[in-house]
Amino acid sequence: MSSDAECVLKGALLPDGRVADISIGGGRIVHVGAARRADRTIDCTGLLCLPGAVDMHVHMRGGDKQGYKEDWVSGSQSALAGGVTTVVDQPNTIPPLTGAEAFTGRVAEATRDACCRFGINGYVSGDSDITGLWEAGALAFGETFAAASSYGSAITTEELEQAFSVIAGLGALVTLHCEDVLPGDDTSLAAHAALRPEAGETACMEMVAARFPPGLSAHFCHLSSPLSAESAMGTLPATYEVMPHHLFLSIEEHGTAPEGCCKVNPPVRHEATRKALWEMWDAIPVIASDHAPHTAEEKSQPFSEVPSGIPGVETMVPLLLAEVYRGRIALSSLLEKVVYTPAHLLGIPISTLLPGTPADLALYPRQETVKITSDLLHSRAGWTPYEGMQGVFPYITCVGGHLSYLRNEFSQTDGLWVPGRGYKCTGAE
Ligand code: DOR
Ligand code: ZN
Repeated sequence: MSSDAECVLKGALLPDGRVADISIGGGRIVHVGAARRADRTIDCTGLLCLPGAVDMHVHMRGGDKQGYKEDWVSGSQSALAGGVTTVVDQPNTIPPLTGAEAFTGRVAEATRDACCRFGINGYVSGDSDITGLWEAGALAFGETFAAASSYGSAITTEELEQAFSVIAGLGALVTLHCEDVLPGDDTSLAAHAALRPEAGETACMEMVAARFPPGLSAHFCHLSSPLSAESAMGTLPATYEVMPHHLFLSIEEHGTAPEGCCKVNPPVRHEATRKALWEMWDAIPVIASDHAPHTAEEKSQPFSEVPSGIPGVETMVPLLLAEVYRGRIALSSLLEKVVYTPAHLLGIPISTLLPGTPADLALYPRQETVKITSDLLHSRAGWTPYEGMQGVFPYITCVGGHLSYLRNEFSQTDGLWVPGRGYKCTGAE
C-alpha cells in the first residue's frame, strides 16, 4: 500500500506550544497532528520547528568574477545552516543585473547551484530595462543605490524619479539604500561612521521619499539608527529593515577581528545608537542580513581600502533566537520580522506550519546555544564578526519538503526560483 506522506518530522515542538508530527508530501505540509504513514520518519523530539526564514537582502556574489568571495553553493548552504530557506539576491553583481538577459543568466546560475529557494531583484540605474527585468521575473527592484557603496554607484535624482514612475506603473516594490557620503579620510570605524552619518541617512531617505509617485511601494534597506526608522514610519506605507550587525555590533563593541571586518554601509554606529535600536524592536517590520561576503584577506587591508560588507545570512536567526531563549524578545516577534512580513511584502510562498503550505521548515534545539566560531559556518568568506557570541543553529532545514540540511550534511537539489508577479515565461528559460 502506498504511504500518505513522504516524510514525517516526529514529535516536534511548534511555536504555539503543541507537540506534533508534521507529515510532508509533494513539497508541502500535508498534516500536523498524529503521524501519517510515511516512507521516512525523522525523530524531532526536543526540537523546535519554525517556518524557514526569508532573508530579503543577501548578496550571493558568484558569477565569473566574485565566486572567490561566495557563490550560490556556499551561500545557499550558509543560508540553510542558519535556518533561512528563501534568499533574495541583490543585483549589484559584476556586471549588475540591468536587463532581462543578465537576469535570466543569474536565474540559471542559481537554479543550478543553490540548494534553497531564491528570488532575484532587478538593478535600478539610468541604463536599466525595468520593464524587461519585471517580465523576466525580477522579484523587486533594488537595492537602489541613492548613495554609492561597494559594487554600487549612486543613481542621479532624475534617473531615480524616472525609475520610480516605471516601477509604480508596474505595481512592483522598490528597495532603497539611502546615505549621505561626506568627503574625508576613511581610516577607522569611527571615521567611516562620521563620513556616512546617521543624519545623512535620514536626510537621504527624506529626499527620496519626497519623490515617491502616488501608489509606489517602497522599502528602505538596512536602517542603522532610530532616527531613520522613525523617519521611515513617517513615510508610510513605506517599510524598512534593520540588520543584525546594527543590533549586535558597534564602533565600541566589534569583537576581536580587525576593524575593517566590521566596515559596512551604512556603518555600525556607537553603542548608544545600537541600544536605542533594540528599544524599538517591536516596531521594526523586517530583519534581513545584508549578507555581503568579502574574504578575510580583503577585510585585512588598510581600512580605507577595505570593501564594505559583512557575511550574516547564517548567523541572523541563530543570534536572534538566542535572544528569544534569553527571554529578551518574543518568538512571535522574531517570526514576524524574518518570515511573515518579508514574505508578505514580496508576495512569496512560505510555510505557516499549516497543512497545504510549503514545507520550508527549520528545526532547532530547544535549549542548546553554541558559541559562534568561523569554522562552524559555511560562507566562503571564512570569518564572522560574531565570533564568540551565542547562537541557536538548526539541526534540520527542509526546503520544499526536501531534507536539504540534516545534521551538518547538505543534499544538493536544484534551487527553487520564486519569480516576481510580472514574470512572462517565454519558454526560453
Ligand atoms: O556594506 C555593503 N556592502 N553595503 C552595500 O550596500 C553593498 C554591500 C556589498 O555588496 O558588498
Ligand atoms: Zn545596501
